[in-house]
Amino acid sequence: MLATTAPVISLETDADIAQREALLDLAFGRAARLAKTSERLREGRRPADGLAFAAHGPDGRVVATLRLWHVAAGPGRPALLLGPLAVHPWFRDRGLGGAMMTTAICEATRLGHGAILLVGDAPYYARFGFDAALTEGLWLPGSFDRSRFLGLELVSGALAGARGLVSPTGAPVDLPSLGELVAQAEPEMKRSA
Ligand SMILES: CC(C)(COP(=O)(O)OP(=O)(O)OC[C@H]1O[C@@H](n2cnc3c(N)ncnc32)[C@H](O)[C@@H]1OP(=O)(O)O)[C@@H](O)C(=O)NCCC(=O)NCCS
Repeated sequence: MLATTAPVISLETDADIAQREALLDLAFGRAARLAKTSERLREGRRPADGLAFAAHGPDGRVVATLRLWHVAAGPGRPALLLGPLAVHPWFRDRGLGGAMMTTAICEATRLGHGAILLVGDAPYYARFGFDAALTEGLWLPGSFDRSRFLGLELVSGALAGARGLVSPTGAPVDLPSLGELVAQAEPEMKRSA
């Protein structure tokens, strides 16, 4: 098999999480990214099954990340929220962001999802078909710039007449039990005693 130096896109695994967090901190700044209104739709939730992607560079490190999340685009209208998308600065302007987007959109379509929402730079996302006109009747749970609030229909008409607040519908993350938290804290408490 020929060796390749191009990053390889695959589904994210637990082993990618720490490097993904570091990449997002580098791309957006930790405080800034956690303050985003989109984050209110992601916090405490798991990404949609089969729709969290990572790209690994030649040395195996995570060089790009993209996730999609379950939301309701107003009452009774399932959709996905896309983001954050980040590519490591060393790997930008080589088509990797575009490849991550294309992979995510194809996979979401294959899995039968109807629409994707995101908050981001319209000049970048327009090339994938995202359009602010599709979100005109929707609101986000916090402040947002309407010109950056974009939608894409994977199924024609999936966002037609969409109206109301976008709300999170993804499965909650598994939180540790009280017993597990105490067990984690015990060695630290003994050291400082
Ligand atoms: C935005 C980002 C994901 C693009 O990744 P990438 O791998 O460099 O993207 P691609 O190589 O597929 O595309 C590069 C093209 O997108 C353009 N582009 C990059 N960022 C852009 C932006 N914010 N707005 C408009 N165009 C942008 C580049 O100018 C280039 O244009 P060209 O094809 O005409 O030369 C990457 O720059 C990044 O991680 N930025 C920091 C985090 C971020 O802003 N994420 C997106 C949130 S809106």
